[in-house]
This record gives sequence, structure tokens and C-alpha cells, in this order.
Amino acid sequence: MTGRPIEDVDPLPSGAEKVLAVRGMFDRIAGRYDLVNRVMTLGLDVGWRRRTVCELRLPGGSLVVDLACGTGDLCTDLLDAGYRAFGLDFSHGMLIEATTSAPLAEADVLRLPLADASMDGATCGFALRNVAALSELFEETARVLRPGGRVAFLEASEPDRGLLRAGHAIYFKRIVPMIGGILSDREAYRYLPRSMAYLPPPARLVEMIDAAGFEQVERIALLGGAAQLLLGTRR
Ligand SMILES: C[S@@+](CC[C@H](N)C(=O)[O-])C[C@H]1O[C@@H](n2cnc3c(N)ncnc32)[C@H](O)[C@@H]1O
Repeated sequence: MTGRPIEDVDPLPSGAEKVLAVRGMFDRIAGRYDLVNRVMTLGLDVGWRRRTVCELRLPGGSLVVDLACGTGDLCTDLLDAGYRAFGLDFSHGMLIEATTSAPLAEADVLRLPLADASMDGATCGFALRNVAALSELFEETARVLRPGGRVAFLEASEPDRGLLRAGHAIYFKRIVPMIGGILSDREAYRYLPRSMAYLPPPARLVEMIDAAGFEQVERIALLGGAAQLLLGTRR
């Protein structure tokens, strides 16, 4: 059972319907996911992932899980930074296309197959919009991190105001689906801008992460707010 294609679901799906639709979509676009990412962000996603890893600020050799790892780019950056890393994702298709040498496994990040307080750190790239229950992701991440453990969530965002906001809207709503259509699957990349509606505003995201059990929660806007990095330390 793969569910209805997510782009056919209007309004945006929730709960079990969202799980099936999201997993089906990533299984479908996995083969060209990395290529479209590079083109669509003009290669900026590479630097954003490196920054994500850098902001963990954990000692070398720390054990870090990459949540919703997809094809494993963040896992590779974690290994390059001297961490012990592995990735978890529920899309078999994305895991098959992975090129990282880090160990990967199929798992639901809302039900992590990991013991309480067993991790030093966690990263998660561009997946907040895709999970069916955001507070559960934050709580589950808190559960598996030891006190003092660090988390870094990288996600797309919208610039606050002005020309940048207008330019970003045109790029995201018009150019991205066009690039996705040429290189991969137009309908899936039409979903991308629509899925921003799942994301709470920045202040609310910070509140939710804090409430899940993190302190020193901060948000860093990247490229004028086109992307965001949410950081926290496990209480
Ligand atoms: C936009 S991709 C991001 C992949 C990778 N983190 C990156 O930085 O490119 C979102 C990923 O989230 C995964 N995902 C969404 N919900 C999930 C869940 N509940 N459990 C595991 N993986 C999930 C999808 O399968 C997909 O691989």
C-alpha cells in the first residue's frame, strides 16, 4: 500500500494519509533527489548541511544519529567532521540511493529504535515538514539524547520581508516545480512549496523544541531566511 500521490491530496493530508503519501513520494523521486537538490538550491544545500554539523559542537567521536537521513548527505558530513554517525529513514527508495559509508537503517523517526539517552547528538535535514506529528519528533529526539546532547534541525524557511521574500516566493512556487519537472517529477516538486504550510512560525518552532526538553534553543536564519537552523541542548 503506497497511498495516493501527495500532490493529488487537497487539502494537504495529515496523520496516516500523510505518512503513506510522503513515503510514496520520496520512494518515487529518490533516484534524482540529490541532483534536484543541488540544482534547486544552486548548491547552497551543501554548505547548509556542513553548517548544521558544525553547530553541533560535540567532541570528536561523539555518537550522532541523522534523523530522516534520506540519501545520507548529512551522515557523510558527520563522518567527515569526526563523529560516529548513522542514519534512519522510512523511505526504502531513499536508502537504496544513498552513497554514504555511514550505516543506515529503515525506521520511523517518530518511533526510534534507540534506547533512552543513548545518543550524544542528532541532526535532521529538511524533514520537519514531512513528519506527521512535529511535537512527537521533538519529543522522540529528546528521549534518545543524553543530558547535554545536542540537536540541529535544518529546514527550509521563508524570508521575513521585502524583495527577498517576494523573490523567494517566485523562485519556490514557480522555478522549483519547473526544475523538478525537467529533472525529476513535476508534481512532487509542486508539493514542496505547498508543504511549507505544515511548518509553524519560527517562534513557535523554538517554543516546541524547548517544551520537548531542550535548553539554549536558538534559530539561525540562513541566506536571509531561505533556510533555518534550529539548535538545542538536551536538559
Ligand atoms: C526532504 S528529505 C530530506 C533527506 C535528507 N535529510 C536531506 O537532508 O537531504 C525528507 C526525508 O524525510 C523522510 N521522512 C519523513 N517522515 C519520516 C518518518 N516519520 N520517519 C523516517 N523518515 C521520514 C523521508 O523519507 C525523506 O527521506
